[in-house]
Amino acid sequence: MTDQSLRALVPDYVKDEQIFEFDHFMDRRFEVDLQKGYSSLHREAPDIFYTPRNGGFWVVTRYDLMEKVLRDTEHFSNRELDIPKSNSPFVMIPLNLDPPDHLPFRMALMRHFDPKTIRAMEPKLREWANRLIDAVIDKGECEFAEGVGAAFPVSVFMELMGLPLERFEEFRVIVLEYFGPTTLERRIELQEHMMKVMWDEFEQRKTDPRDDLMTKLVNEKVKGRPLTDEELQSIGFLLFIAGLDTVANTLGFTFRQLALHPTLQDRLVADPECAQNFVEEALRRCSIVQQTRVVKKDFELAGAHFHVGDMVSCPLMLGGMDDRKNDNPDVIDIDRANRSHLAFSTGPHVCIGNFLARMEMRIMVQEWTRRIPRFWIKPGTQAHWRAGGVAALSDLYLQWDKPQA
Ligand code: HEM
Repeated sequence: MTDQSLRALVPDYVKDEQIFEFDHFMDRRFEVDLQKGYSSLHREAPDIFYTPRNGGFWVVTRYDLMEKVLRDTEHFSNRELDIPKSNSPFVMIPLNLDPPDHLPFRMALMRHFDPKTIRAMEPKLREWANRLIDAVIDKGECEFAEGVGAAFPVSVFMELMGLPLERFEEFRVIVLEYFGPTTLERRIELQEHMMKVMWDEFEQRKTDPRDDLMTKLVNEKVKGRPLTDEELQSIGFLLFIAGLDTVANTLGFTFRQLALHPTLQDRLVADPECAQNFVEEALRRCSIVQQTRVVKKDFELAGAHFHVGDMVSCPLMLGGMDDRKNDNPDVIDIDRANRSHLAFSTGPHVCIGNFLARMEMRIMVQEWTRRIPRFWIKPGTQAHWRAGGVAALSDLYLQWDKPQA
């Protein structure tokens, strides 16, 4: 596009030097390495810029500035998070709520994701990780993104919620379709189907309580009263959205990096305890969420004039890849002395499931490298990914020597 035609698509209050063409879903910069491609914005674009694409929105590219936006609930709202705006009437609790409504719901959910509760799930998670590895190990190769990366968090989610594990395959298929490239109509259909399934399960817990998160939520109180049926459904659906795709894609990008770096594999095999640091480094290098906000009160930040109704995107990968924050940000360095990332966002909405997600990643990395100590990207194949609100890795073909019989 010419400068003139770009200008015509941009509001008057955006300065000429703040206009920069960038696509939220598919930008040429993403082709070779998604996160590295993103980080070229640090060299090419202003710290905060406005792109006319996808309905027009601001992009904040530096860690310190993102932190300011994400923590500021006076000027920025979570009510609308879609780019382009969807104006959806559906409210995901607590994600779409602002203060003062947000906190009571967040508290009700957070107490079930504390480290002690999550740690108790560790043996089950190891069992599931091994079950998935069992299914592929003798083949000497697999498509990891769908077969392992996406399947693992589905099983964890079902364990956590107390959903019937014999329905694993049915849920896995729904999840793959929901997060895959499908039509809006079909996604709405699948959303309705999932909400109905959750609804039936919540209803059962009311008369047949069990030791699971669904029962705990049914018995939860907010502002001194039980959650309404709509609130329960909304929370259940958010957990489904928030905990599956994110873990699956972070695992996919992480295992791609591992497959490309045999020395990292050696480190993890020799010292499984360093998986903890590796996961933190992978979260920094392979962040996947472009966290958004809608402006609710005019505000100026670093020369950018945000107006009410503007969409603002904080690509969280640019936090971890910010060279003002982390030296040599492209390099995966388990021993990094200071590490800063925003993979789980920051501020009042910081991810509730971060402890669980970290544990899922650590367990899969430990079990995989214990049983498949050397693996690589299958020759002749190429991984594929796409950007958007949550960056997705759609396929990743891995190969290794078959175990001796
Ligand atoms: C690697 C995996 C994950 C990533 C990268 C991730 C990322 C995020 C991010 C960036 C937010 C912040 C939204 C904001 O600032 O507005 C968030 C919120 C949230 N996440 Fe996660 N998440 C992951 C896994 C999970 C899991 C496993 C669960 C639970 C099963 C979960 C549940 C939630 C919930 C409930 C919120 C809303 C918190 C609030 O609004 O107060 N997430 N997540």
